[in-house]
Amino acid sequence: MSEPLLALDGVHTHIDQYHILQGVSFQVPAGGVTMLLGRNGAGKTTTLRTIMGLWHASSGAVRFDGRDITALSTPDIARLGIAYVPESMGIFSDLTVRENMVLAATAGTMDNSRLDWIFELFPPLKTFWDMPAGNLSGGQKQMLSIARAIVEPRRLVLIDEPTKGLAPAIILSVRKALEALKETDTTILLVEQNFSLASRVGDTVAVMDDGRIIHTGEMAELAADRSLQERLMGLSLEAHQ
Ligand SMILES: Nc1ncnc2c1ncn2[C@@H]1O[C@H](COP(=O)(O)OP(=O)(O)OP(=O)(O)O)[C@@H](O)[C@H]1O
Ligand SMILES: [Mg+2]
Repeated sequence: MSEPLLALDGVHTHIDQYHILQGVSFQVPAGGVTMLLGRNGAGKTTTLRTIMGLWHASSGAVRFDGRDITALSTPDIARLGIAYVPESMGIFSDLTVRENMVLAATAGTMDNSRLDWIFELFPPLKTFWDMPAGNLSGGQKQMLSIARAIVEPRRLVLIDEPTKGLAPAIILSVRKALEALKETDTTILLVEQNFSLASRVGDTVAVMDDGRIIHTGEMAELAADRSLQERLMGLSLEAHQ
């Protein structure tokens, strides 16, 4: 296998007096979708925030494209081409869709051909371009938050639970958008509780529990093995469809 785009090696993260990540090691190969799965409270969000420099690892290393980024600030990490779509989505409700997009562009302007591509991925953003983002539906807000992350070409996008709380029809449109993004050369690290979506879009997987990685491998292998799913996450495919 070629060099991973991102590698965590024995990462420990403390939040105040709490020892949350307790030696997290896994790799994200370039070009595909890596799923980060695990029960509630396993440490998935903390892992994304540690990669992004929003928490700093107390020991261990985060490497991006062979470079140690463990101690870099969040803006420096973003400048390397890593974007983060937090669970809270981070959009500005009072601003229009367009203004939300402009603010996400580091240059302060948007490339028109890229914008056309984003509109193809997420047609509602074109429809509601001049409307306050607060008026969008939950699924449309999620589309906007992902669109903001890819307003400029990124090498790696970290996405935290994009389908949380969404109706099945909207989950389908988010899935299609993720599949379209996957067709580009953007690498994705995706936290997602919807196991059916995870099985469809994931290439590789890392499963966490209690601040540690308890399994890594091919997503297809995990999707095909119900007893492994139950052992790792206490769930079966049926329970999460
Ligand atoms: N700011 C914080 N202060 C103290 N503890 C925190 C903080 N953020 C997270 N934790 C704790 O760290 C552990 C991991 O939380 P994290 O949010 O990373 O889990 P998660 O896997 O993303 O869970 P979920 O699936 O519910 O989103 C939990 O026990 C949580 O209570
Ligand atoms: Mg979380």
